[in-house]
Formats: sequence, structure tokens, C-alpha cells
Amino acid sequence: MKVLVIGGGGREDAIVWALGKSPQVSEIVCAPGNGGIAQRARCVAVDSNSLSDLLRVVEGEKPDLTVVGPEVPLSLGIVDELKKRGLRVFGPTKGAAMLETSKAFAKDFMQRHGIPTARYTVCHSLDEARGALRNFPGAVVVKADGLAAGKGVVLCANPAEAMAAAEGIFSGELLGAVGAQLVLEELLEGPEISFFALCDGTSAIAMQCAQDHKRIGEGDTGPNTGGMGAYSTDELMSEGMRAWVMQHVALPVVRGMREEGVPFAGVLFIGLMMTADGPKVLEFNTRFGDPETQTLMMRLESDVVELFDASIDGRVRDLKLR
Ligand code: AMP
Ligand code: GLY
Repeated sequence: MKVLVIGGGGREDAIVWALGKSPQVSEIVCAPGNGGIAQRARCVAVDSNSLSDLLRVVEGEKPDLTVVGPEVPLSLGIVDELKKRGLRVFGPTKGAAMLETSKAFAKDFMQRHGIPTARYTVCHSLDEARGALRNFPGAVVVKADGLAAGKGVVLCANPAEAMAAAEGIFSGELLGAVGAQLVLEELLEGPEISFFALCDGTSAIAMQCAQDHKRIGEGDTGPNTGGMGAYSTDELMSEGMRAWVMQHVALPVVRGMREEGVPFAGVLFIGLMMTADGPKVLEFNTRFGDPETQTLMMRLESDVVELFDASIDGRVRDLKLR
């Protein structure tokens, strides 16, 4: 079978590497790919921010399966478009990707479905933020709504810092585009874990957990990044805790999204803070982690195509993941 992978990071390199081990796969194309991926797959140029250009590549390549790596093509609705054309594609629809693309949607969704997360308020103006900050007297986190490649979250020691961050979001100074809404939430403390669940719209199964090295410098110093590297071991989370996260987070997400008419299929990446009061969700991503996927693919003994097929065909519950 011919597989097209969309994306060009460490995540896509890892997916391409795993596809290369599958006896079912005869040809791998990656758009746009990168210099490393070019050693394992044929790379084709694409403007990943343009839905029409992505469609041009898919229509030209005619893959048997398309795997979407990053969030931007998902947010543009690439999965909806390929499904409309009757093509097999791994990943969530645009509506289901709202769990990642709108922090306000994700927080309200968690509240509606009783999923553990930090106390929060959604604000639409600076005045609203000023008022809401009375309920967050200490440290507080300010989050721009929408995709921001990790730059939209500001950890603030006090309400004055939070007001400065809110000003940056509403004026457009922080992200270059003017924000329409933001989320204020309580600051949580504890180790952070990336938890991955494979979903098919109706059900979900646990994959492994990973942790990424967030800061740019040696010795865990300097600004936060999307992840400079990652590791994954069974010791990150006990079997019992993994079952708890499935029962209290992953399965309620799949059930809730289905009830709300936007079934979630693909990988649900649950960003967890392991607080003294138990795990709480920091954020959802609706795709594999980059670079966490490098560690997950190294540990995966199953044929990765079986994972993609099970998600697309609604069979994750029957999957024996090794
Ligand atoms: P997010 O994009 O929401 O995951 O936020 C990016 C990073 O900010 C997370 O990986 C955490 O390190 C940090 N963060 C987000 N929300 C909180 C919070 N409520 N308390 C403490 N740290 C947070
Ligand atoms: N490594 C964090 C992310 O993929 O969002």
C-alpha cells in the first residue's frame, strides 16, 4: 500500500520510520518532509498552511492511506475534505480538532463532562479579565485561544503580570494577531506527562506516556519550547493510573464528543499535570506529540498501519497493542 504522511518534523520522521517497518507498506511519500525524512521516503513540496495545496498533493499522489501529523492541516479541515472524497485518512475532523484549536472550547467541554482540569474563566475583553482576576489572587495562567505553537501560554506570578499578558493578547502584541478571547486559569504544580490514547469516534485505548524536555538550554535552562527531546518508560505512570486516566479523561472525551455530534477519531494527546490532588488536564492536542512520537514509535512492536486502520474503521477496542 502507498501511504502519504503530511508534516515535516521529528514526529513525521518517526511515523515514516515505523511505516517503513510495516510489511503492508510498499511506498511512503511525505509532504513536505525534511532532510532526514528524505532518507526514508520521497518528499514532495507543499504549503502546509494551504488546504488547496494539500489537496493538490493528495489528488496527485492518490495514496491508499493519508496520515496527518501536525495540527494546522487538521484545523483547516483536511480530514473532512479527504473523507468527502471517500479517501482513507487518519486524524480528527476540523470540528473534533477544536479540542486543540480552541482552549475555550476545550475548557468548557471538560466542565460539561466532569473532566478534571484547572479552575478557569473565559474572558472576551480586558475589562472582563480585570474583573475575573479578583477570583485568582495568586499565581495564574493566561492562555490565548487558538493555535499558537506553544507561545500562547503565559505563567504569571500575580494579577498584575496577568493583566500585562491579557493586554498583549487583546492588542495582538503577544502573538502578532489580535485575540478575541482568552482563558484565565489557576496555576497547577507537579510533574507533567504526555498521555496518548488511540480513538475511533466511539472508543479509545491507552497507548504509552512520554515526557518531553521543554526548555531550550542544557541543564533544563532557558525558555520553553515545543519539546527539545523526549523519553518514555513504563515508570512514568503505573498501570492503575493509566486506567484511571482512561476512565476519567480519555473515555469521557470520546463519549462527550460523540454526544455533541463531533465524534473524535485519531490520537488524543492529553497533557496532564500530576498534582497533589490527582491528575488534571492542562490541554488536549488532537495529534501525536512532536517529538514524543519518536519515543512511542521506538517502543511500538505492533504494525503501525494496524493502529491507523483500527482508528479509521472503528475497531480500536479489538486492537491488541504491543
Ligand atoms: P498548554 O498549551 O495549555 O499545554 O500550555 C503550555 C504549557 O504551559 C504546558 O505544557 C505547561 O507546562 C504550562 N501550563 C499550562 N497550563 C498550566 C497551568 N494551569 N498550570 C501550570 N502550568 C501550566
Ligand atoms: N511536545 C508537545 C507537543 O507536541 O505539543
